[in-house]
Amino acid sequence: MKTTLALYLLTTLTLFSTERLSAQNKFLETIQKNDTKWWKEAVVYQIYPRSFKDSDGDGVGDLKGIISKLDYIKSLGVDAIWLNPIYTSPNDDNGYDISNYREIMSDFGTMNDFDLLLKGMHQRGLKLIMDIVVNHSSDEHEWFKQSKSSRDNKYRDYYHWWPAEKGKPPYRWSFFDVNSDAWKYDAKTDAYYLHYFSQKQPDLNWENPTVRQEIYEMMRFWLDKGIDGFRMDAFQFASKVTTWPELPQGYEKNIIKYYGVGPHLHDYLQEMNKEVFSKYDIMTVAEGAGSTPEEAMLFVDPDRKELNMAYHFESVDIGKHINDFGLVKYKDIFSRYDQTFKDKGWLSIFLANHDQPRMVSKFGNDSVQFRSLSSKMLSTFIMCMRGTPYYYNGDEVGMTNIRFDSIEDYKDVDTRNKYIGLKNKGGDLKAFLEVQKQTSRENGRTPFQWDSTKNGGFSEGKPWLKVNPNYSFINVELQENDPNSTLNYFRSLVQLRKKDPVLVYGKYTILDKENPSVFAFTRELNDKKILVLLNFSEKESTFNIALPTSKFKIILDNYSSTKEIKKNTLRPYEAVIIEIK
Ligand code: NOJ
Repeated sequence: MKTTLALYLLTTLTLFSTERLSAQNKFLETIQKNDTKWWKEAVVYQIYPRSFKDSDGDGVGDLKGIISKLDYIKSLGVDAIWLNPIYTSPNDDNGYDISNYREIMSDFGTMNDFDLLLKGMHQRGLKLIMDIVVNHSSDEHEWFKQSKSSRDNKYRDYYHWWPAEKGKPPYRWSFFDVNSDAWKYDAKTDAYYLHYFSQKQPDLNWENPTVRQEIYEMMRFWLDKGIDGFRMDAFQFASKVTTWPELPQGYEKNIIKYYGVGPHLHDYLQEMNKEVFSKYDIMTVAEGAGSTPEEAMLFVDPDRKELNMAYHFESVDIGKHINDFGLVKYKDIFSRYDQTFKDKGWLSIFLANHDQPRMVSKFGNDSVQFRSLSSKMLSTFIMCMRGTPYYYNGDEVGMTNIRFDSIEDYKDVDTRNKYIGLKNKGGDLKAFLEVQKQTSRENGRTPFQWDSTKNGGFSEGKPWLKVNPNYSFINVELQENDPNSTLNYFRSLVQLRKKDPVLVYGKYTILDKENPSVFAFTRELNDKKILVLLNFSEKESTFNIALPTSKFKIILDNYSSTKEIKKNTLRPYEAVIIEIK
């Protein structure tokens, strides 16, 4: 029979001051070895500007809207904001198709608004990370307009062209093309251009040194304005094998291997670092970094002088829902990556972003009964892991997937083009739409839910994308004054992480790793040890860990009532952070 010994919260564990002093010195030594950096200690809050806050009633979020919410963002305790692209764009892919890198998209405001935003952020001690999209531009960028105008135009080699007299180019798959074909024929010069993403996102030719210099200059333009870093969009695809060999059978199972991390990628990153990054105190993060932990390390190994940190896709590409792929596999991904990065390099930790469904709908449980508990549990995971936490706007109140029924509701080039492609082939559209309810990027892009008024307080006008009707009961206003809300729990977690370097720099060790329901791990730094217990199941779950029998203290828990824990048992979606003395 299972013992259910009650272990009680201890409150009288203050170290004697001399002991405390020596612990502090030891701690300083260790973190010096760990090479402390502001961006390792920061919590990054991602804002999808189109959906955050509309200030002028046109249904599209904008910079003035963000400015009006800076105090809210500051109140979360976060340190930096990553903004999705805000540059001029025809919006084929919501700003990831840039037609002018030095201008602000008119939907979002003006350069003056940008300057005010940056100033307002810096006044509040918030840093700004800009999203930079330089694997490709928009086809409406002046460079591409010139490039396609004639074969001998000086911008021709800014992009990848294949002359039609050589026959059809070797097949390349495209993420967003209706026919999944990455070469598009252009009659004007009787040639094909390459676009790994949509037809309106031609890939830049990084082998051309002039292209590289133009881009470095543009990056310096933003850095000189005072921004604090870049998120490098899709950059792992910038270097390609330009002899264009035939793709091997089964290539589609590992697109990154055949499309990404090309032969010169690391040369470009080292050059970029030398020419741009090394001259500023900034943070740089790679979106995607190869397909293994070892490949990811190459991007961020400090000795190589490339980028500061990377986020990999294994933990989000693993499947549609945690019930399908299971917790054991999931835990293994984080543990493998952490093992590779334990002594050097740095990762980011995230469960959602604008390319993913909502965190709680995929990894938790968004039913009325469990939404708040499981959101809090997942936030606990993000804030207690090693790596810089990236937290997606709206997750702090537990926003959920919208699950559209009709293709008409979707605006995303990804979903729409895949739908058209499937329709042309006579595929099962109903089944496709069912899958989109779990996977579509637009589940995470619906307007931010501020309050219970019209459109969740996002806009006075007609929102560009439907607001999730659950805004009436999931919103910031309702949670502000509730001490037990998802929102206030998130704030407590951020405070905890910031108070305690053990959660930033401490060693990670997984426990009970075959447990199918509980993710348990410790973080350790000098004399400090934190145990994190997370139940990923809607059922009560047991774990096989020898809990300390004497000195320990529960620091935070998502039931807001855990003064004791029943030995080896967690309630549904329970999350407990314990300090072991
Ligand atoms: C990754 C971005 O996160 C995604 O939203 C975009 O569609 C592609 N890169 C292409 O830029």
